[in-house]
Amino acid sequence: MLATMSQWLTLSRAAHLLGISRVALQKRIREGDLPSFDGMVAADDLQRDWPQLDLDASGSFEKTRAIREDAFARRLRERVLPTQEALAQRLFVQGQELAELQRTLTRYHELFETLQTRLAAVPVPAADELMQLLDEGLAQALAAPAPGHDVAALDAMLRVMSAHITVKPSGHEFFVEGSETLLKAALRAGLTPNYGCGNGNCGLCKARVVAGEARAVAPSDYRFSEAEKAQNHVLMCVCTALSSDLVLEVLEAGAPGDIPEQRVVAKVRSVDVLNDDVLRLHLQTPRSNRLRFLAGQRVTLGVSADLAGGSDLHAEYPVASCPCDDRNLIFHLCRTDRRAASADFRQCVFDGRIKAGDEVSVWGPWGSFVLEHDSARPLVFIAIDDGFAPVNSLIEHAIAVDAAESISLYWASSQPGGQYLPNQCRAWNEALDEFSYLALAVDELQAVLAANAALPTSDVYLAGAIDAVEPLAAALLAAGVPPEQLHVEGL
Ligand code: FES
Repeated sequence: MLATMSQWLTLSRAAHLLGISRVALQKRIREGDLPSFDGMVAADDLQRDWPQLDLDASGSFEKTRAIREDAFARRLRERVLPTQEALAQRLFVQGQELAELQRTLTRYHELFETLQTRLAAVPVPAADELMQLLDEGLAQALAAPAPGHDVAALDAMLRVMSAHITVKPSGHEFFVEGSETLLKAALRAGLTPNYGCGNGNCGLCKARVVAGEARAVAPSDYRFSEAEKAQNHVLMCVCTALSSDLVLEVLEAGAPGDIPEQRVVAKVRSVDVLNDDVLRLHLQTPRSNRLRFLAGQRVTLGVSADLAGGSDLHAEYPVASCPCDDRNLIFHLCRTDRRAASADFRQCVFDGRIKAGDEVSVWGPWGSFVLEHDSARPLVFIAIDDGFAPVNSLIEHAIAVDAAESISLYWASSQPGGQYLPNQCRAWNEALDEFSYLALAVDELQAVLAANAALPTSDVYLAGAIDAVEPLAAALLAAGVPPEQLHVEGL
């Protein structure tokens, strides 16, 4: 009886629960290892395939998630509870579901008792046998734990702690943890919603609530028209999810042309030495004026004459962080960079004239070295030296959106051991089943790539100094990579 009541979960919710990628679940379904129905999987099938999953072990899932987040170079967020109102609302809904379940069980119980009474009144031996069968079946069902009950219990807890958001018309999904805003959660999940000020003034982050409830958790000066109010519009930057399931209609950027040019004044958080030749410049944008960009794009950085000690300086750099990394903008500056246009700016940073607390202007974003929208092909990233910067941004984004079946990273260096963030690449390699990493020398690259038969069926992203990437791009095309699947960023 209870087996027929198995709880069904969407792939996103099941992946969230198990701490694995949605792509990994899809692969198991495709290979026939995990049954699915209409895009859903059953809790008892998950329990069977992941027997280690129980409430006592849920800490291990938290740990896996923490490793994944750490590996993505995100700041560890303080885990906060949803608002009291959201908790009350979600518990109320669960209470209603529980009450309905109890009513159903009561009806089954009454039916069972009626059946027992009727059978007892039937004067034939077959009725006694049937009675015994029923008694034994019931005893067995009550003695054994219901299949999938740990999965169902953990899911019930997650439904209270986090909300599942479905975006229309794209079908993208994300989870809102604690009382974070819809905008913050969408960006963290790698989505590209329309937004501007980030603090409830401009109205650009408007979204329409199609199903479920959202509630403001911060004040806002924006005034909705009567028509917008009637259509359930909310501001994603000040609202969180009240119900555990919410459907939103959202405007999303699909291509670089969808994002306007912006100018932001950011503050230097730190300048860190990554190795003898590479510095990491960490900027933070103001809360009320974030930079909107797509992973893999470039911006122009500028410092004033006061700071530069002469005239204003500016230089163009790829953003090494992902838009999912909140207000943080990371850049990798390489001493051996041969671009004359950025030489003075670079020298200014290497000389220590730019330090924590200083202001840096950021214009942009520029360029179209971005992930192929909605492609499910395997991803191959080839970084040469500091070409790793835009590749890092793309990889963080690809992991956040959880869309690729596999990710391969080749990082070639023109100097021995020139891969300046080896621990981060190893952490990805260890935390993600579908990720592979190879560090190699530049002169080994062509031979290694020639041995990869999967390149023509992959999306290939190649970044590095222009004189290094151009011949390699020609070799990749000659090896059968279709031009529309080859994306090149020459620095
Ligand atoms: S981003 Fe400006 S109101 Fe939300």
